[in-house]
Amino acid sequence: MTMEPKPLRIIAAADSNMGIGICGNLPWHLPNEYKYFLSKMTSVSAAGKKNLVIWGKGSAIKDCSSLPNCYGVVLSRTLSSVPKNANYLCRDLLSAIDLALLPPLSEEIETIWVIGGVKPFEEAMKHPACDRIYLTNIMATFNTDTFFPEFDRDAFKLLDEFPEVPSEIQEENGIRYKFQVFQRVCK
Ligand SMILES: NC(=O)c1ccc[n+]([C@@H]2O[C@H](COP(=O)([O-])OP(=O)(O)OC[C@H]3O[C@@H](n4cnc5c(N)ncnc54)[C@H](OP(=O)(O)O)[C@@H]3O)[C@@H](O)[C@H]2O)c1
Repeated sequence: MTMEPKPLRIIAAADSNMGIGICGNLPWHLPNEYKYFLSKMTSVSAAGKKNLVIWGKGSAIKDCSSLPNCYGVVLSRTLSSVPKNANYLCRDLLSAIDLALLPPLSEEIETIWVIGGVKPFEEAMKHPACDRIYLTNIMATFNTDTFFPEFDRDAFKLLDEFPEVPSEIQEENGIRYKFQVFQRVCK
């Protein structure tokens, strides 16, 4: 069977040291950043289409209703059943991507989003279908124990502006941040 490729995108927020998490949680409380960027971006699709959102077991998504218009896939090699906060359980990233490429979901899924944690990010950014990284730059330093992986900044170029993404600096709870979109310029 020929499988049509679909865009695979990463979305995350990292502080000045590229920290993304602490003790299994986000280091900051920025509900508008979450709502505006992650929730909004992952929910956009053409009429009648949905997106597939993939996360590792340790990345906190309370429930799929916080990510509208999406099917949720949790990655784990140890869970034996689909957790309440997801629609599917997969043993590895490629199996999760296949969900979007094969029936019964292939007709319905438009974009595949990887929202954490470190290994899913690392594997996704090496995948040839990964064309964009949406990375909020939290302009502060937090106590963190989990870090966004290094990525090739010659292959992924920071865009000056991107439709629907505010380019000005945002501020919430006294924390400044800016939305960034990196586009793959070469394979
Ligand atoms: N700032 C952000 O944008 C952002 C985004 C996401 C997460 N976070 C933070 O990052 C931390 C969690 O990230 P993390 O890297 O520690 O953990 P994680 O990737 O969310 O979860 C790790 C677990 O998920 C499963 N897993 C991960 N990758 C897998 C793969 N490729 N195939 C199969 N199973 C896989 C494994 O479960 P089993 O052991 O059951 O096999 C693994 O032990 C938290 O602090 C979270 O709040 C921040």
